[in-house]
Amino acid sequence: MRRAIYPGSFDPVTNGHLDIIERGCKLFDEIIIAILVNPDKRPLFTIEERREMLLEVIQTISTGNCRLLVEDFQGLLVHYAVQREADAIVRGIRAVSDYEYELQMALMNRRLEPRIETVFMMPAEVYSYVSSRLVKEVFQLGATIQGLVPPSVEARMSEKLKRG
Ligand code: PNS
Repeated sequence: MRRAIYPGSFDPVTNGHLDIIERGCKLFDEIIIAILVNPDKRPLFTIEERREMLLEVIQTISTGNCRLLVEDFQGLLVHYAVQREADAIVRGIRAVSDYEYELQMALMNRRLEPRIETVFMMPAEVYSYVSSRLVKEVFQLGATIQGLVPPSVEARMSEKLKRG
């Protein structure tokens, strides 16, 4: 049984994340989508909202026999990965600009916990410029984000914006 952790902020989940999860499902029997609880950041969505959105949208992708779980974690990712008996950490790399930061994290994580491998995966090219940060920014400034996030996430973003 091969288990991976797919960590992130998922504020909110994008189609790029879903693409990586689908691809990860070809390699792993189980993927734990792990939302980082980060008290230093001011997220748009609460952990509970992010968890709900993830649970909704993972129903819409093809996962084969792969089991998907949604959890949250605090503290060091590698501690959580060991505690959950994971074999690997999955991270998506969109462009060369992601690589440097991701390499640093992967090597630091390896130093901290050599038993856990990091697996980098490339999303489909159409998502190569999609990030949660940009999705939030353009949406808050009035642009459409159709096709960049699942429809249910778009609806929740509209709700948030209405409520301010
Ligand atoms: O979606 P993000 O914000 O790019 O995800 C970043 C994440 C959650 C992978 C990273 O911030 C992380 O692993 N944080 C947990 C704390 C930790 O382990 N820090 C050391 C990393 S080398």
